[in-house]
Amino acid sequence: MAQRTFSIVKPDAVRKGYTGAILAEIEKAGFQIAAIKKLSISREQAKGFYYIHKDRPFFAGLCDFMSSGPLVLMVLEKDNAIADLRKLMGATNPANAEEGTIRKKFAGSIQENAVHGSDAEETAAFEIGYWFAGFELL
Ligand code: RTP
Ligand code: MG
Repeated sequence: MAQRTFSIVKPDAVRKGYTGAILAEIEKAGFQIAAIKKLSISREQAKGFYYIHKDRPFFAGLCDFMSSGPLVLMVLEKDNAIADLRKLMGATNPANAEEGTIRKKFAGSIQENAVHGSDAEETAAFEIGYWFAGFELL
């Protein structure tokens, strides 16, 4: 059965004009875009989203980065969507990302790494509900 995951084209990739190319990679890999929107988020909204990382040394910089410009929020659908998107994204640090992955192609650094993808079913459910209302996902 199709599974849903949550993804972001992060501000670095939007700024560099990679949104369309990244969406093309995602669709080419067999994902359906169930919902999508582009917006700028506040630092507080970024903090709530990445709350799990609140005690990490990179948290403040991450929240500044995520609120530094518009981003594209998406709900994606596919069999095995959560694991398959993580594979398509590549490693957090683009220096370690495999050839052919989105981060290998489009990410600039460990922080400005082009995309986000949920890492488990519970986080996908939290993240989808954080950014999308039920009526946006009919
Ligand atoms: P994401 O949550 O955005 O999909 O990325 P991820 O699972 O691959 O990595 P995670 O450990 O969850 O980290 C979240 C985001 O924080 C930034 N980061 N910066 N400066 C650093 O050492 C560092 N480490 C992580 C990245 O933007 C990372 O994607
Ligand atoms: Mg993560």
